[in-house]
Formats: sequence, C-alpha cells, structure tokens
Amino acid sequence: MKETTKQDMVVLITGAGKGIGRAVAETLARRAEAAGSSLSLYLAARTRSDLESLKAQLDSSVVRCDLIAGDLAEAPTEPVEACLARHGRIDALIHCAGVGRFKDFLEQTPEDLEFTIKINVTATFLLLQRAYAVMRTQSPREGMRGQIQVVTSIAAEQPFPQSSTYCLSKYAQRGLLEVMKLYGRQDGIRILEVKPGAVYTPMWGQLPAEQVEKMMIAEDVAQPMVDALYVSSRASLEGLTIRPLHGDL
Ligand SMILES: NC(=O)c1ccc[n+]([C@@H]2O[C@H](COP(=O)([O-])OP(=O)(O)OC[C@H]3O[C@@H](n4cnc5c(N)ncnc54)[C@H](OP(=O)(O)O)[C@@H]3O)[C@@H](O)[C@H]2O)c1
Repeated sequence: MKETTKQDMVVLITGAGKGIGRAVAETLARRAEAAGSSLSLYLAARTRSDLESLKAQLDSSVVRCDLIAGDLAEAPTEPVEACLARHGRIDALIHCAGVGRFKDFLEQTPEDLEFTIKINVTATFLLLQRAYAVMRTQSPREGMRGQIQVVTSIAAEQPFPQSSTYCLSKYAQRGLLEVMKLYGRQDGIRILEVKPGAVYTPMWGQLPAEQVEKMMIAEDVAQPMVDALYVSSRASLEGLTIRPLHGDL
C-alpha cells in the first residue's frame, strides 16, 4: 500500500544534525520517497558538516534539502527567516535543538543555568513565536495553517536528580506549549509536545553497553513524530510520551 503524505510539504527542522532531529529528517525523507511526493526540508543546527552530510544523504528526485548552520542562542529566528525566504511558507516546524548539563544541584553554576535557559527557553520562545506568526498569516492547507512539534522531555513533567537546570528549562517549554495550544486551536495550527524518555543520542556521550541496551534509539521517537504530521487535519495530536519499553532509567 502506498504511504499517505502531503504534496510539497515544507518542513523546518532544528537540531537536524544529530540525534532525534536527524532521525526525523531521515524518516520524513523515507516516507516521501515511498509515496513519491515532493518534500522540502530546511535543516538547521550548529555544525555545518553534519547538515551537509545529511543533505548529501537525503537529496533525491523528490526530497530537496536546504541548510542553515548557526547558533540558536545568537540568532533564534534565523532558521524561520531563511526557510521563509526560500519557500514563502512553513508547513511544519519540528524543534529538536536542545541542550542539557547534568550534574548535582549544588554543582550547577550560573553559567550552566544561563547556557541552558538561553537555548531551551529564550531561543525556543523566540523561534516558536516567529514561526507561529508566519503560520498564522499563511493560507490554510486542508484547513490547517501549520504544525509545530517541540521535543521537550519526560523531564518536562517529572523531576530527575542531576537535572535541576534541565528540568527547569523543560518545565518552562511545557508551559509555553500549553499556552500556544490555546492559540493554535483558534488559528488552525497544530501544536504537539513530544516527551521522550531516554534516547541514546550524542547528547549522552559515551555510556556503558548495559545502559544503552535499556534506552530507545532516535528512530523510535522520530517515527511517531512523523506519523503525527499526517494525522487527519480534523484532529490534533497534542501530546506524545514515548518511553523505553521497561521504563525510565
Ligand atoms: N536524548 C534523550 O534521551 C532525550 C530525551 C528527552 C528529550 N530530549 C530532548 O530532545 C532534543 C534533542 O535531543 P538529542 O538527544 O537529539 O540531542 P543531540 O543528539 O545532542 O542533538 C542536538 C541537536 O541540536 C543542535 N543544537 C544544540 N544546541 C544548539 C544551538 N544553540 N543552536 C543550534 N542548534 C543547536 C545540535 O547541533 P550541534 O551538534 O551542531 O551543536 C544537534 O544537531 C533536546 O531538546 C533534548 O532535550 C532528549
């Protein structure tokens, strides 16, 4: 059976160079290939070489990638402006860029706090605000003006030791998304909060094999995120919690 997809979808992905964001780009591209329908991906992250290798991997007769390398902490709305300048619209923003510094509560420094908040909270707010403003003024497709997915974490609703600055920032993201859902329902913009448990990505660095075995891989999270983009346009999937089969670490 042919995959269902949307024609000419323009998708902006932050954090596309590694981990969950990269897996989302790969999963979306596979789906477009299977359906033979065109897909424009705008890939954003800090490390240009990651984005170039992803573009080389995904570009095809149906998938077309553009990329923008830059630090969201310095220029949070730049990916939106670049995607808009290239395509004139953004059907979906999938915000995966995020950071965490994990250490004991009393060891977290003011710099750890500022670093985490700058990206997970301030840049996230400004990026989403700008993307939402763009979507709100664009013409609807199938009754929908756009879709925004943000990868927060189970740490957005559950405390973990070693995670004081991370939980603070993720709870903040959650609060923002809850407010955005109120607006999204009025404006025909779907807002999805994605809350993964432990996923083995570069964010974790090197881990012992017995710990890795208990974790998900990025594709486990990417697949339902991509499926969520294709939920009937009469409906809105607003939250997605994805845990390792045997629970949290
Ligand atoms: N892995 C997990 O277990 C897990 C669980 C729950 C939630 N999450 C959340 O999922 C999201 C993605 O995590 P991940 O595990 O995929 O992380 P990752 O493997 O470290 O990848 C993060 C991506 O975000 C980009 N990025 C980070 N800071 C940036 C900045 N200031 N400006 C622009 N791009 C930036 C990175 O680019 P560069 O590499 O070029 O810096 C990279 O492409 C994060 O929000 C994380 O909190 C992860």
